[in-house]
Amino acid sequence: MSVASHYDGSASTYAGQYDAKKIWTNEEYPSNYFRLELVQRLLASADATSVYELGVGDATPLVRIATTGIRVAGNDISPEMVRFARSNMESHGLDPSAISLLDVQDEVALQAERERVGTFDVVMAMGVIPHVSDDAAFVSAMDGFLRPGGRLLLQFRNSMFSMFTFNRLTKEFILDELLTDVDQGIRDVVAADLDARLAVDKPPKRTRPTGDGYDEILSRFHNPFELADVVRAHGYRDVHYHWYNYHPAYPMISDQIDATAYRKAQIDLEGDPSWRGMFLCSAGIIEAVKDDA
Ligand SMILES: C[S@@+](CC[C@H](N)C(=O)[O-])C[C@H]1O[C@@H](n2cnc3c(N)ncnc32)[C@H](O)[C@@H]1O
Repeated sequence: MSVASHYDGSASTYAGQYDAKKIWTNEEYPSNYFRLELVQRLLASADATSVYELGVGDATPLVRIATTGIRVAGNDISPEMVRFARSNMESHGLDPSAISLLDVQDEVALQAERERVGTFDVVMAMGVIPHVSDDAAFVSAMDGFLRPGGRLLLQFRNSMFSMFTFNRLTKEFILDELLTDVDQGIRDVVAADLDARLAVDKPPKRTRPTGDGYDEILSRFHNPFELADVVRAHGYRDVHYHWYNYHPAYPMISDQIDATAYRKAQIDLEGDPSWRGMFLCSAGIIEAVKDDA
């Protein structure tokens, strides 16, 4: 099963998470709604006049960005997402051919797309790097659409959040990221201890009968420090983290809290610019400026 088929399956309902009227009623926390608000603030402060997006989804974010007069274009690997994105563009008076069907891991397709669309003030990728295997190649793919001095906005799933979840993800982070060079005998003792302390049966895996649920396809977390190093290695400066999808309690105990009070506490935390986001947020955006050539 593939990333494309996963997103084909969610294309028809994808726009719901960006609906302001559903912020309080959506069963799943609408983190992408707050991500888009954050992206719009970053675009305004960068005075962006053009934006290219890798992995546009149904283009709800791009269409909203275009309403401020910004020129937009982008791509996606999912045929259904591209179908919805083109129709979404068209119904808002935008050019549907600005959306290409392509795999950002396909260098030949990327090169043809670059020649077709040129370079932009801002290049963004929201929710895409979890699904690719080569981080350096992905940043390089983004870089190819960005003008010198332009801004890169790269979203990632935050592996540091596992320090606040006390579950299987915490165990994986400690063993696979913190204790990588420690003697196997010691790691085994730590692993056994963590099995007793942590809820290693959580979180539940998100599966689908079709076998392409979010946790059945490639959907990686990233270490914010390591990902920032990859970005810097491509000639970027002024690297900043922006955090979103705050958790006022660790997810496995959230059902002990009144649902409306919990959501209010989540929303109240969105936009906190402090270091706490590195631990309380399951996702973040790296913003960085491309060196002038
Ligand atoms: C989590 S969704 C986010 C969509 C959109 N960026 C947004 O913010 O609403 C990720 C999107 O990336 C696309 N994607 C994943 N891997 C890709 C690849 N290798 N090439 C192009 N698009 C990809 C998926 O099809 C999906 O539409």
